[in-house]
Formats: sequence, C-alpha cells, structure tokens
Amino acid sequence: MKLFLDTAEIDEIRTVARWGVLDGVTTNPTLFAKTSGMTYDEVLAEICTITSGPVSAEVVAEDVEGMLSEGRHFAKIAPNIVVKVPMSETGLEAISRFAAEGIRVNCTLIFTANQGLLAAKAGASLLSPFVGRLDDINEEGMIVIRELSDIVRFHELDAEVLAASVRHPRHVTESALAGAHIATLPFKVFQQMVRHPLTDKGIVQFRKDWDSARKAMAEKAPAGAGARG
Ligand code: E4P
Repeated sequence: MKLFLDTAEIDEIRTVARWGVLDGVTTNPTLFAKTSGMTYDEVLAEICTITSGPVSAEVVAEDVEGMLSEGRHFAKIAPNIVVKVPMSETGLEAISRFAAEGIRVNCTLIFTANQGLLAAKAGASLLSPFVGRLDDINEEGMIVIRELSDIVRFHELDAEVLAASVRHPRHVTESALAGAHIATLPFKVFQQMVRHPLTDKGIVQFRKDWDSARKAMAEKAPAGAGARG
C-alpha cells in the first residue's frame, strides 16, 4: 500500500518525506489556491525535488487540445510528474492521447467503478475514486474502491486504484483492506495515523519509570559512580 500526500504545501511534504513514508504527492487547483508565494509550476518543481514518487499536476482546460497543452507543459517540469485529468468525454480523449505520447495520467473525480474502468481502458495509470465526497452525499464511497480494485485485478488492467478524498484514518485502513494500491491523504490524516492516546501515555510512563530507576540507582551507588548501566 503506497501513501501519497494530498497537498501543495511544501513544508507538509518535507515533514512526511522525513518520516520515510512518502510515496508520492497529489495536488489540485483547490490545494494550490491555499498556498502563496510561488506559481503552480514552481510548486510542482519544488515538490519533485523532495520526492521521486509520482507528483500529480491537474489540468483545468475543458477541451482536449487545452488539456494536452497544459499536460505536456507539466510533464516537462520533472520526470515524475503525472498529469491529472478529470473524468469526462473530453478527459477520456485527452487520456488516450497522453497515453499514446507516453505521458502518465491520474484520472481524477471518479465516483463509480464504471468511470474507473473507462479511465483504465483509455490509458490512465492512476484511477482516483473520491471516497469522502461520496460519503458526504450519503453514499458508501468505499464500495467504489472495492469494486474498482476488484475489476483492475480480475482483468489485469495496467492501472492502480488511488483512494482519494480521504477524510480520516479509517478511510486509509478500509482502502487498504478493499484492495486500493494507493491512498492520498491530507497532512492532518497522516498525523492522526501516527498518534494514539495509549502510545502517548506509554511514552510518558516509560520516561517516568526510567527516571525513577536512575534516581534509585544513584541513591544506592557509592559516591562518584555513574548511575547508567
Ligand atoms: C485527489 O487527488 C484530490 O486532490 C483530493 O483527494 C480531493 O479531496 P477532497 O474531497 O477533500 O477535496
């Protein structure tokens, strides 16, 4: 199971990269709009210096030629750029053209297994079903992850399922169990995955017991001897 960071914030990407658990990054126009000081191209170039994993850069054009022009431009920024294309009739056409040119595509805004199947057939290497946005409208987002993961494996499609729109750590566990190859998470969800109250409590207790043991040894030891054994 690969874990991507769903952000355009450089500091967050550096932090998770330092933890040694970062396999790639997904960005989108909304995430870029939360940053400041750099152009989208500069942000993408910077991210690609931090990770050699796939970095998704999303097109905003709605026509095929516009998508191709934006995507070709992104693909020149770094070899690990993956062009993110929304699911639509024009999106499918652009995906098949990118595939013919050897440019990798992440098909985004997938909400059904059939949309994912179409994207894989058109040549997308990453398929991004949005779990949280389906849950938000009272549907079961995880069903799409499970169905699409099964379809990809049964039919040996050359694509990976990337669970997107992840809202909390249970989405990560359930995506892994449903067979998703990748999940992309906001920084907050990475942090939530690290923490557990019993872990925090245990660390405090171990430190306290260690200090007590050292104090007891120091009190027993002859004058001048060190306490650490
Ligand atoms: C994925 O690539 C998308 O950028 C992202 O997961 C969307 O998540 P949201 O529904 O929280 O906006």
